Order: sequence, then structure tokens, then C-alpha cells
Amino acid sequence: MAKKKIANIPFGPYIAVLAGATVAGKPNYATLGAYGVVSQQPVLYISLKNTHHTTAGVIENGFFSVNIPAAAAIAKTDYCGIVSGRETDKSGLFEAFYDEAGNAPLIKECPVNYLCKVIRTIPIFDFTMFLGEIVAAYADEDCLDGGQPDALKVSPTVMMAAGYFDLKDRIGSVFKAGRGADAGSGPPQDNP
Ligand SMILES: Cc1cc2nc3c(=O)[nH]c(=O)nc-3n(C[C@H](O)[C@H](O)[C@H](O)COP(=O)(O)O)c2cc1C
Repeated sequence: MAKKKIANIPFGPYIAVLAGATVAGKPNYATLGAYGVVSQQPVLYISLKNTHHTTAGVIENGFFSVNIPAAAAIAKTDYCGIVSGRETDKSGLFEAFYDEAGNAPLIKECPVNYLCKVIRTIPIFDFTMFLGEIVAAYADEDCLDGGQPDALKVSPTVMMAAGYFDLKDRIGSVFKAGRGADAGSGPPQDNP
């Protein structure tokens, strides 16, 4: 298949998450694609535009939450990325709960929740990347498999380009999918 050069902008995939922060005493939420891990340490990053209402809350308290919404909650997830808490009160959209480790709202309706303490901030153009140590994590009991969140039960939303997608199948196991080939027969071959 021939390769074609495309625009120098990232098209994904990303998981859509809801970042939560307390802003002037109220919970506020923003939809983010710029979220991820930085190593195997319990640290997450989020990258927030400096003018967002949520950004002010993260700076004010030094804590943020990352909540993984189920794909079924796509309307509320998208809505939190359309309206700003500066003009529209989003505090009643979800049932918030809190952990004693820090002041940021966690979203009851989201199957997985992380509470993070800001340990570093990195300015990126007109955004700030907040690196946060996970100080508490929660998951819905019915989404767990062997004590860990199960991807298909959590059912996150994947974004790519301008589309939202859900997960369909598990296609392999980490550190196992590459070991299928017989020893000595070279690297494994994927089906075309
Ligand atoms: C799918 C999606 C992904 C988004 N990703 C980001 C992001 O990674 N970083 C960011 O700063 N804003 C992102 N936004 C925009 C904010 O969610 C949006 O501006 C929101 O209204 C900010 O709310 P706030 O001002 O109440 O914090 C995204 C929006 C959508 C719909």
C-alpha cells in the first residue's frame, strides 16, 4: 500500500475522559483527549487550555480528577467539551463524590476514576500539561475482572479525527500476542 503525506496534526486515537476540578467551591468538568500515562509509575497527565474554567480549579487546589466515561454517556461527555463552566454551570450534570486525599470531584456515573495530585506543570503553547500522581483510584465493582478494570466492561470512548467510537473486541493479551510464533521461526506474522 502506498503512503501519502498528510497534515502534521495528531488524528488520534485518544480516549475521551472527563477531567474534574473544584472551581470556586463548585465541581466543574471538561472533556479531554489530551490525557495519558508517562511511565509505569502511577502518574497521569492532562493537557488543559489555559483559559478553561477547569484549569483555574486545578491551579487553585493542586488536584484534578480523571474520569473515564462509558461510551453510552457520549452525549454528556461531548457536552462537557462544548460548554464552559465560565458561562454554564456544569456542577449538577453528574453526581460528584470525593476522596479525603484531595479536593477534586470524582464522577459517580463514570466506571473508572482517578484522583491526582499535581506534581509538575509544563507550559505547552497556550496549554498547561499537568502531571498528577494518582492518590486514589476507584472503579465500579461490576467493571472489574480479577481486581482490575475490564476494558470491554468499562467500554470507553475512543476518538479519532472527528469521530467517537466504542471498543468492540479484545484482540490479544499484553506480552503474549507476540509470542505466538514457534521458536526459531522468526518474528510472528499478523493476518493481513
Ligand atoms: C472530544 C473533545 C476533546 C477535547 N480535548 C481537550 C483537551 O485535550 N484539552 C483541552 O484543553 N480542551 C479539550 N477540549 C475542549 C474542552 O473540553 C472545552 O473547551 C470545555 O468547554 C472546557 O470547559 P471548561 O471551560 O468548563 O473547563 C475537548 C473537547 C472535546 C469535545
